[in-house]
Amino acid sequence: MTRSLATRLQSVQPSATLAISQRAAELRKQGIDIISFSLGEPDFHTPAHIREAAKRAIDEGASHYTAVRGMPKLREAISADSKKRRGGLVHTPDEIVVSVGAKHSLFNLALALYEEGDEVIIPAPYWVSYPEQVRMLGGTPVIVETREEDGFVLTAAALEQALTPRTKALILCTPSNPTGSAYTPTQLAALAEVARRHDFWLITDEIYSRLVYGGFEQRSLLEVAPDLRDRTIIVDGVSKTHAMTGWRVGWILAPKVICDAVDMVQSQSTTNPTAVAQFAALAALEGPDDAFDAMHAIFDERRQVMVRGLAALPGLRCRMPEGAFYAFPSVVGLYGKTVGSHTLTDDVSVAQWLLEEARVAVVPGTPFGAPGYVRLSYATSTELIREGLKRIGDALAALR
Ligand SMILES: Cc1ncc(COP(=O)(O)O)c(C=O)c1O
Repeated sequence: MTRSLATRLQSVQPSATLAISQRAAELRKQGIDIISFSLGEPDFHTPAHIREAAKRAIDEGASHYTAVRGMPKLREAISADSKKRRGGLVHTPDEIVVSVGAKHSLFNLALALYEEGDEVIIPAPYWVSYPEQVRMLGGTPVIVETREEDGFVLTAAALEQALTPRTKALILCTPSNPTGSAYTPTQLAALAEVARRHDFWLITDEIYSRLVYGGFEQRSLLEVAPDLRDRTIIVDGVSKTHAMTGWRVGWILAPKVICDAVDMVQSQSTTNPTAVAQFAALAALEGPDDAFDAMHAIFDERRQVMVRGLAALPGLRCRMPEGAFYAFPSVVGLYGKTVGSHTLTDDVSVAQWLLEEARVAVVPGTPFGAPGYVRLSYATSTELIREGLKRIGDALAALR
């Protein structure tokens, strides 16, 4: 008999960004005004037509279980939307499973795929949940560095080198959280060429795929390499595109064998995603795109203000990201500088100093597998971005 916690939790890292957000909360409580660039979600409200559809659904009785993998009409809408956005690529409704957010889709996949001894290739910088989910299931994340000079994308040579007989999957995120980088069709084709010669699952997280800017040619790996269909799993959802993070609806588009496995996993945990939220997601996919277009234009404008502003600051270097809503500057140029008793030695100390001195909250790169960088979300008003940049500039000017 024992009352111990499961040993699997010992390998999971608690959130390393927590210390900064706790400190930011403390400062706010003391009445200090903090500008936060740490948010990982759109600052907009869910568009009105989506909210209205959800209210109607409640009144019309959306209070029952649905199919575990999501209502057929939602999966039909996802199928049609994906076909439209992915160059005619068709996933039928039985090749789609809807879950409680894309994070849940990824966790279901982890449960369905990974076990002790499996290696999962994850390019760094990575979204923090990828390695933790792999570890939780007893697998080994194989972190492969990418380079800022390559636009933070995984090269075919680096992928080839990371492969072993134990490789179970590769997780690609494009556009990426935290870097905002996205893979061009040529870069995807090069990875597909390696994948063809080996046998592992390709998971492409495309949750930010509609948030690309400046005419970037966003393509899904499967559009570039349709022959890899039997091994490719696309992860997507409404959270980022339609400002619906709190509704919790995400999905996979995948071979039927994967969908059946994930359906089984989900049937023993959450059952279906919340019925009302499914109706909201349906309205998001079938409704007008005006609200999305407006948010998209605003994000693009903020991207320019944030990135140009950061790149102009002494000691910082920031590439213009292709997508998502994050800027990811290098802060290495600040190492060794001092202000008062502070010496900046790494990205965590830079983030702490920015919070204390500039009253600006940013997320250090280390938890994303990217020491030397910080992440700033521009999902906040242009006015606050300008003010935050000014504060950072003033704090930088005080450094010696
Ligand atoms: C890369 C990436 N994938 C997945 C998710 C999860 O999205 P959801 O809100 O649908 O769970 C996020 C959210 O931050 C993300 O940044």
